[in-house]
Amino acid sequence: MIVCKFGGTSVEDAGALRRLHTIVADRVAEKPLVVVSALAGVSDLLVSTFEDGADNEPRLDGRAASTQTQSIASSPGPTAYEALATRHFDLMCEVAGAEACHRLDPWLEALRAGPRRGSAQGQAEWLALGELLASAIVTAALEAWGLRATWFDVRSVMRTRGENPIQDRPDREVLQRLVDRHLRHSIEAGGIVVTQGFIGCDAGGRTTLLGRGGSDFSASLLGAALQAERLEIWTDVDGIMTAPPRLVPGARRLRVLSFDEAAELAYFGAKVLHPATLHPAQEAAIPVLVANSRRPKTAPGTPGTLILPDTTAYHDERAVVRSVAVKHGVTVVTVHSTRMLMAHGFLERIFAVFAKHSTPVDLVSTAEVSVSLTVDDPRSLQAIVDELRAIARVEVAPEMAIICVVGDGMRRARGIAARLFRAVGSTEVRMISQGASEINVSLVVADAEADDVVRRLHEEFFQGNLPRAVFGESFADLETAPSLPASPPSPHRLARVAADLAAKHGTPFYVYELDRVEAQIQRLRTALDHSRARLAYACKANFHPALFFLMRDQGVGIDAVSPMEVERALQCGIPADQVLFTANNVSVETLLAVHDQGVRVNLGSLSDVRRFAAHRAGTEVFLRTNPGIGAGHHAHVVTGGMDSKFGILAEDLQEAREILAARDIRVVGLHAHIGSGSLDAAPHLEAARRLVAAATAFPHLRSLNVGGGLGVPYRRGEPEFALESYGAGLREMLQSLEAALGRTLELWVEPGRFLVAQAGTLVARVTCRKETAGHIYVGLDSGMNHLVRPALYGAYHAIRNLSAPGAPLESVDVVGNICESADVFAMSRPLPSPQEGHLLAIENAGAYGFAMASHYNLWPLPREFVLRDGAVLDA
Ligand code: LLP
Repeated sequence: MIVCKFGGTSVEDAGALRRLHTIVADRVAEKPLVVVSALAGVSDLLVSTFEDGADNEPRLDGRAASTQTQSIASSPGPTAYEALATRHFDLMCEVAGAEACHRLDPWLEALRAGPRRGSAQGQAEWLALGELLASAIVTAALEAWGLRATWFDVRSVMRTRGENPIQDRPDREVLQRLVDRHLRHSIEAGGIVVTQGFIGCDAGGRTTLLGRGGSDFSASLLGAALQAERLEIWTDVDGIMTAPPRLVPGARRLRVLSFDEAAELAYFGAKVLHPATLHPAQEAAIPVLVANSRRPKTAPGTPGTLILPDTTAYHDERAVVRSVAVKHGVTVVTVHSTRMLMAHGFLERIFAVFAKHSTPVDLVSTAEVSVSLTVDDPRSLQAIVDELRAIARVEVAPEMAIICVVGDGMRRARGIAARLFRAVGSTEVRMISQGASEINVSLVVADAEADDVVRRLHEEFFQGNLPRAVFGESFADLETAPSLPASPPSPHRLARVAADLAAKHGTPFYVYELDRVEAQIQRLRTALDHSRARLAYACKANFHPALFFLMRDQGVGIDAVSPMEVERALQCGIPADQVLFTANNVSVETLLAVHDQGVRVNLGSLSDVRRFAAHRAGTEVFLRTNPGIGAGHHAHVVTGGMDSKFGILAEDLQEAREILAARDIRVVGLHAHIGSGSLDAAPHLEAARRLVAAATAFPHLRSLNVGGGLGVPYRRGEPEFALESYGAGLREMLQSLEAALGRTLELWVEPGRFLVAQAGTLVARVTCRKETAGHIYVGLDSGMNHLVRPALYGAYHAIRNLSAPGAPLESVDVVGNICESADVFAMSRPLPSPQEGHLLAIENAGAYGFAMASHYNLWPLPREFVLRDGAVLDA
């Protein structure tokens, strides 16, 4: 059992939820309890609306709610409550569909009703809405994407003492009993339990809060009560670093840290963790992982920082110091007294003054005639100083900073002080103190000089060959590491753009979102993770010029199948040597013309080989093989195996080689493409294995091209293509082939659908609604002439009603305007009741949509629009 807590930025929008899903899906076997905060910004807005007092005034600055609500938040503005309601409703709709939105009803209702002001209890109930709403959305998203998730109200176990509803203390004993009774079993039964951080409930059943930073604390408490194997805190930073990265870009990620070290760092400035958070986990000796939800798969090894009860196994002479932290804005108060200082009870009197004003003291150092103390909360400083002056001379030095050097190993190491002072150099040190735990040394210097001292200390202690078991990547490297792309459909962004485009240009039309194409490129590159992996986009999927430009800018080549595709690639600036021509049954003139442009030709039959070799010699070619296995979403798109017209079978490769060798034509690439749209990586890997087996017979081979065919989920909840095992399998095969050949090879992959399908939407208008013989026909101003996939392959495309996403559902047949009965987009599909005039979005239509469109019935082709970050390019 593990506990995974996701902070506000890790649940803030559909992208974040998609990443959350990936993280949780990877951990199903470990039985995760998912604890969530409110969406980023929501708690602040709830606090300020509670404090403002003016109910339902339209006064919201759109940014405060989210960028997604900007358009509705502009004038005349919605109330803050409406904006909050809209943000949650929109997100639910986006990730789980309109059908799921009713799950938010009780809390949206409460939002609309506004807070019960004037009581702390009312405030606690109001603030709790953020976590309650977020947890319902996370549950629905996980379910919609194929995981078995259940929502759990944490108030049935998180018992607090009922002393202060907005900052209550847990009652650990009762909490333990309730967890054992109500929660443990559901987690053990498998499935994923999703619950709230931050909120609790007193013995009288009233909602309470654990105070700010409370979600981490909740997770830690639950983890301890469950005796979890690990607590994971997913946030927006990459764990704990060797120094604040804003000061030291070369700061390294700490892979491991002890609880004591983490507590010191949390206290002295590392913003990642609230010090109190760790206590329950630490007591129960539960390892805590702190990691960035944007980069859950930092290679190699685990992401983030793992905080362990005992890190002696990681002790290393080269790195006794683990981190340098800094706390700015500190004041040093020095109390001088010649007479009384060392007198019995004097220190106590000094501390009593600080205690009386509830002002904590961070560092203390004493000399014969003076005591220096630091405080970082200046609110009561004047009063404190006034009182102290009654008993001694007092000096106040504001604008100071505490620099804290932390490391368990410092206990045992010698020479640390010398190195420390070397780095401090001539900077004036106002105080110095070794913590009682012996794992930190703290210095106080002027605030203005502190950053420089931190840099020098970092240089002193983190030079050279540091143990990899402890130190991960530098911050600079992490920043450029690809984040886990997450680009689920964004129909709300799209809905607005589509409505504008429809009003201006009419319907139907295709829209392509370039950022989503880029995200897919990134995903694939991350999975392949091989310096010699090359992508060649199969532009037959979508030949819009904007995609060629994007591929050029991304360094992606092109798989072309006609001289016209080759022409477009070259015109759009793709270098000829990054274009592969895999034609089928073309004339030798075409083969030669393309070859003579510097493009690589991929010969797919003995006839191609013969005809080409008859006219050219002393050149290089690829051979398309048929590895004897095929896979695809429909028989029409299977292109390997014994019944396929494509490629050269293994038994004919020898002959092909001989014909080419006789003309001194070198085979530099071997290719196989077995079909399109399979979600299973296994047949692709089998084909690759066969390609590898054939490769050793080709002495000039430089490239292995495993084709395209990677499927995408068209239905909600359908699993994704198994990218990781695909990437890992290919890497492994290539490495062993390279070892056998004693040289390196390039790995080519030529995806079409995978890069563009989800980025494209066909938008059409309902022209006619007809209820007859038990059917509700919803007729569109588009048809199979614009998107033939449903008619040709029975393909499923998700459809949304952009005009009325929240309308009641009904089962409809969505049909086109073509004179054939195959002209159907969807049969018996539950949709929010489509009415004449509504705009419908037919999704995942970016691949083989427009590319296969025709003028059938002499209807014009649909228009195409390209979006970048939600804005239309060149409309
Ligand atoms: N390489 C070659 C040699 C191909 O023939 C194809 C697709 C690809 C790569 C790219 O395959 P993808 O990654 O997109 O699956 N119209 C059908 C798909 C036909 C695929 C044709 N060849 C459909 O709409 O499902």
